Amino acid sequence: MTRIDDNAPAGTMDRRRFLLGAASLAVAAGLGGLSRQVGAQAAPPAAPTAGPFTLMKLPYADSALDPVISANTIGFHYGKHHKGYVDNLNKLVAGTELADKPLATVVAATAGNPDKVAIFNNAAQVWNHDFYWASLKPGGGGEPPAVLGKLMETAFGSVAACKDELKKAALGQFGSGWAWLALDGGKLVVVKTANADNPTTKGLKPLLTIDVWEHAYYLDYQNRRADYAQAVIDKLLNWGFAAGNLA
Ligand SMILES: [Fe+2]
Repeated sequence: MTRIDDNAPAGTMDRRRFLLGAASLAVAAGLGGLSRQVGAQAAPPAAPTAGPFTLMKLPYADSALDPVISANTIGFHYGKHHKGYVDNLNKLVAGTELADKPLATVVAATAGNPDKVAIFNNAAQVWNHDFYWASLKPGGGGEPPAVLGKLMETAFGSVAACKDELKKAALGQFGSGWAWLALDGGKLVVVKTANADNPTTKGLKPLLTIDVWEHAYYLDYQNRRADYAQAVIDKLLNWGFAAGNLA
């Protein structure tokens, strides 16, 4: 198994570019929690970066989500899949005007463009995974902050009903994709997206997400996506991150 430390970005990131991209992402999606986490990154780059986009530093140890998500899954999901999207994106934008743009701008600029599908897919997958890791935390789940809980009650009748909708979206997404809690104007909504797509392309503001690509759960749960989704909702979702994104 490849440990994520083998692929950790601290030694290779171009910090300025990393912060620029992350800050833009935070502005575009209200990613307050991640931007604070990014702001805490202090290690300067020790080696030249391979491209303008960098793999975010995971906000916890690769074993921190165990047993809901094992270190083995994190090793492949973060260290291989997520890193792969970053590497592919860097190759695809090399020498183009998009190489100098923040990640969220690349996503917005390529969404729905049939000539830019590969760039969109990899850029959006980097964005989505950055958001996914921030949507989870060790010892998560439980009750959301009051401000978010009230919105959940207004939109779905109760916090439990909102969680049920999130699970339904995770299970209802046919094939690879994502389940999201998002804001549509001032109203809370649960949506699902296929493959690399995300709610920002439809004018929604994501609050948190659950990755339902098989690579997110197959090593731990095989085909039991429902068990994965339930465990993530009950034990890992970072409701504080979601509430922070309301602002
Ligand atoms: Fe994933």
